[in-house]
Amino acid sequence: MTGVRGRAIRGTFVHAPKRGAVEVLEDALIFVGEDGRIERIAPAAGGVPEGTLELPAAQIVIPGFVDLHVHAPQYPQLGLALDEPLEVWLGKYTFPLEARYADLDFAREAYGTLVRDLLAGGTTTALYFATVHRQATELLAEMCLAEGQRALVGKVVMDLAESCPDYYRDASPEAAIADSRSVIEAIRALPDNDRVLPVITPRFIPSCTDEALAGLGALAAECACHVQTHCSESDWAHGYALERYGKTDAEALDGFGLLTRKTVLAHSVFLTDADMDRVKSRGAGVAHCALSNAYFGNAVFPLRRALEKGVHVGLGTDISGGPSASMLDAARMTVAVSRMLQDGVDATDSRETRGVANSRVDLLTAFHLATAGGGVALDLDIGLFRPGYHFDALIIDATAEAGTIRLFGAQAADRIEQILYTASKPNIAATFVGGDLVSGRPESTTASPPS
Ligand code: GUN
Ligand code: ZN
Repeated sequence: MTGVRGRAIRGTFVHAPKRGAVEVLEDALIFVGEDGRIERIAPAAGGVPEGTLELPAAQIVIPGFVDLHVHAPQYPQLGLALDEPLEVWLGKYTFPLEARYADLDFAREAYGTLVRDLLAGGTTTALYFATVHRQATELLAEMCLAEGQRALVGKVVMDLAESCPDYYRDASPEAAIADSRSVIEAIRALPDNDRVLPVITPRFIPSCTDEALAGLGALAAECACHVQTHCSESDWAHGYALERYGKTDAEALDGFGLLTRKTVLAHSVFLTDADMDRVKSRGAGVAHCALSNAYFGNAVFPLRRALEKGVHVGLGTDISGGPSASMLDAARMTVAVSRMLQDGVDATDSRETRGVANSRVDLLTAFHLATAGGGVALDLDIGLFRPGYHFDALIIDATAEAGTIRLFGAQAADRIEQILYTASKPNIAATFVGGDLVSGRPESTTASPPS
C-alpha cells in the first residue's frame, strides 16, 4: 500500500479537539512514523523535506470518521425494511438476513463491499457487530485488516430461546461464552494485526440469558477488551429491562460487569439522569445514532445533557437501522434532531411547552463527536492530529467537479462548516489509516512520491 508512513505530508489540516470549534493548522507538515503514528507537526515554512506528499491548496485534511455503531451483516438491507418497530423488524427482516452469514461466501462478498465502501466514505474506524457465527466474525476481522480499516469486531451473543429464533441463536450460554473467547483469541492472533481489536458483544438484554450476560462480564474483565451492546434504545427495549429486573438497562448491565471504560452503549435514548451518572462514573460511552433513532428510538437522545454531564459520546450510523452509511450524514442528522428536540415537533403545542430548552448542538460539535469523540469513547489514539496519534485522515477536495461542495472561490479552510454540510463521496480524494493509503488517490503538487 502506498501511503505516508515514514515521511511527511504537507497541507492544511482541520480537526476538532473541543466541542463547537475547529483548529486549523494552515500549511503545516505532519511527520508520520514508520508505525503510522504522528511523530511531529511543524509549520511548512520551516522547510519541507524530500519525499513529502504536498497537497494542492484547494484540499484540506481532516481526521477520519469513527463510526461507533455498525451492524456489518445488515449492509445488504441498507435502505430497506424500515417499516416496522424494532421488536418486529428484528424477527421479520434482520435475524433472517444475519443467519445467512453461516455461508462464508456470502459473508465474504457482503463484508468486502461494506468495508471498501466505508473507507471510501471516510470511515477509518468502525465498531462492528458481526453475527453469532464464529467463523464469519473472524472473517470480518480478517477483511478489515486486509483492506486496512481500523476496526473493532464482535461476535454477537444471543442465547435466550424465548426471544431468539432456533435458526439463529447461540446453542447455550456456555457455547456463547466459549465462542466469544475463541473469537477474541483469533482476532488477537491475526498476523501483522496492528489495527483490529475484538469486542465482547451481547446483542442486548432482551436476547441474552443472565448466565451469558454474567459470563461475558467476567470475560470482559479477564480479557480487558472492549464491550458493546444496545442500551435503552426504544420504549419497548427500555421497558423490557424494567420488567425483567426492575432496573434500567444501564443498571442491569453494570450489575453484570458490562459497563467499563471500554464499553460503548448504542442509542441509550432513554437513559435517566442516574443512568448518565453511572455511565460517566464507569467511563463508558454512548454511540449516538440520530438517524436510526428516528426509525426505532421513539424519541431523541438528550445529547447535550449527556455531554454536559461529561459522558463520552461518539456518533454511529447504525447500519442498517439508519438508511445511510455516511458519517457525514450522521453528523448532519445529529444537528437536525438536536434542533428538533430543542424546538419541539408538534405545531399545535404552545411555543413554551413544545421543546426541551438547551438541547441543540452545532455542526462543529457533531464533527468533534464523529472524530475525536469516537476516539475518546473507544479509548484509542484516533480522531485528532496530535503527536502519538495514529495518522487516520481524509483528504477533502473541495473542488472535485463530481462532488457537491461549491465554495465560489473561498479558501477551503475558511469554509469548514460549508464543507461538512455539503461534502459527498466524490469530495473524499483519499483515505489513510495508520499512514497507509486505503482508498482513493492523493494528488501531489510535486513529482510522484516514493511508494
Ligand atoms: N437491538 C438489538 N438488535 C438491534 C439491531 O440489530 N439494530 C438496532 N437498531 N437495535 C437493535
Ligand atoms: Zn444496533
